Amino acid sequence: MGNNRTLCRRQNLLIAGFVAFFALCASIQFARAEDPALVVGPNECAECHKKETSIWQKTHHFSTFRDLPRTKEATEIAEKMGIRRIKSDSACLNCHFTEKLEDGKPEPIAGIACESCHGSGKDWYKVHSGFSGKKEGQETPDEIKARWAKSEAAGMIRPSMIYTLARNCFSCHLVPDEKLVNVGGHAAGSAFELVAWSQGEIRHNTWYNKGASNPAASTERQRMLFIVGRIAELETALIGVSKATTKADYALKMATRANNARKVMASLAKLLPDAPELMEIAQIGAKAGLKLNNEAELKDAAGKISVLGLKFANAYDGKAFAAVDKYLPAPDKYKGTVSN
Ligand code: HEC
Ligand code: HEC
Ligand code: HEC
Ligand code: HEC
Repeated sequence: MGNNRTLCRRQNLLIAGFVAFFALCASIQFARAEDPALVVGPNECAECHKKETSIWQKTHHFSTFRDLPRTKEATEIAEKMGIRRIKSDSACLNCHFTEKLEDGKPEPIAGIACESCHGSGKDWYKVHSGFSGKKEGQETPDEIKARWAKSEAAGMIRPSMIYTLARNCFSCHLVPDEKLVNVGGHAAGSAFELVAWSQGEIRHNTWYNKGASNPAASTERQRMLFIVGRIAELETALIGVSKATTKADYALKMATRANNARKVMASLAKLLPDAPELMEIAQIGAKAGLKLNNEAELKDAAGKISVLGLKFANAYDGKAFAAVDKYLPAPDKYKGTVSN
């Protein structure tokens, strides 16, 4: 399953624009787990990225590895799901832990780690940092371009790939799993908003300034994160509703979320008329039938939104979107404490 997810990411780059293929990716993207065979683990990243690693170690993404299996709430969910070992059952692993092959066997080695967000590293981590076999600063511009292109094609999710980044956060934070919610009693997702949730405890903008500070994303980037986050939310919520088969808590919560997300898209489309992709997305959302057992239609709609989201993220830099500034969350709304 992890293979499929990686494949989708690679193909996104190669054949961007083929709607049918994206629809296929949308339909399998919630095979959440990274492929353990492609994971190198956070210790490997820490060899060079010390500061980013020490910041990550102060987040819930890190502490969940140790803490989750000990909580009463987790034990109760697991019991209701008929799961005996939280750390070795894929029903929890996919979102709470990172697995890596140890002696040929997948073993949970960390919580939500570098590769959960930047992509499994085995095929790209030496490429992205290799300066094309030269010394830092000696590559030609073409070599630099080729190095990043190769890293992306091998599954790296770079900070510049904001649509891919955003839908990846939502693929865990919306919990598109009917049984886990209805039977297990797990929350049907978080009140997740990309700016607030990425600029607090998660923030580690410390690499390119050599750890001198950990600044928030620029205003232009925040505008893009804000809008792109809303698009990814609508895409993911539609996929969430597409999996709803019974009239119960899960279906109700997912449908409410999708309905809110499409209203937000309609407002954004009005606010930013110069970005026609937003109107297209809002229209697809408005037409989607938020009802039980409507998988084919909803996945198709989600697939189309995915294509447009990627297109939107690549087409704009946020400079012209000052109209959203009054909706950007203020620093006191950032989730968790920023590390320095
Ligand atoms: C051998 C040292 C080294 C290791 C190991 C390493 N990195 Fe890097 N990383 C770098 C260097 C160097 C750069 C910046 C390259 C440049 O400036 O062109 C970088 C840049 C990055 C970036 C920013 C990319 C961008 O688009 O600007 C991310 C994200 C990243 N690394 C993640 C990781 C992850 C995740 C791992 C582990 C799987 C990892 N790195 C392992 C050296 C390393
Ligand atoms: C689709 C992804 C996903 C799956 C699968 C999943 N979780 Fe979660 N879980 C989350 C997210 C995201 C949160 C955080 C919600 C928040 O902070 O708003 C969370 C939070 C929790 C919490 C409350 C926070 C805490 O850490 O105490 C518990 C308990 C929990 N999950 C247990 C489980 C158990 C047990 C399983 C397996 C039966 C499981 N989860 C499967 C995504 C998932
Ligand atoms: C929760 C998802 C997530 C995790 C986990 C994560 N990152 Fe990131 N990373 C991001 C995002 C998002 C950005 C861009 C941040 C922004 O726009 O403010 C980023 C940016 C970066 C950058 C560029 C920083 C700069 O100075 O511009 C590097 C390098 C990086 N991450 C490495 C790592 C390493 C190494 C780890 C593990 C120790 C890690 N990341 C864990 C999501 C994550
Ligand atoms: C692999 C699944 C996964 C991915 C990908 C992921 N998260 Fe999470 N996140 C979780 C889980 C699970 C928790 C709850 C951890 C706990 O407390 O037990 C969580 C917790 C958090 C928290 C702390 C919430 C709190 O209640 O304090 C923040 C903030 C957060 N995530 C932001 C992000 C952002 C931003 C991204 C994308 C850049 C992201 N996450 C990607 C699974 C994920």
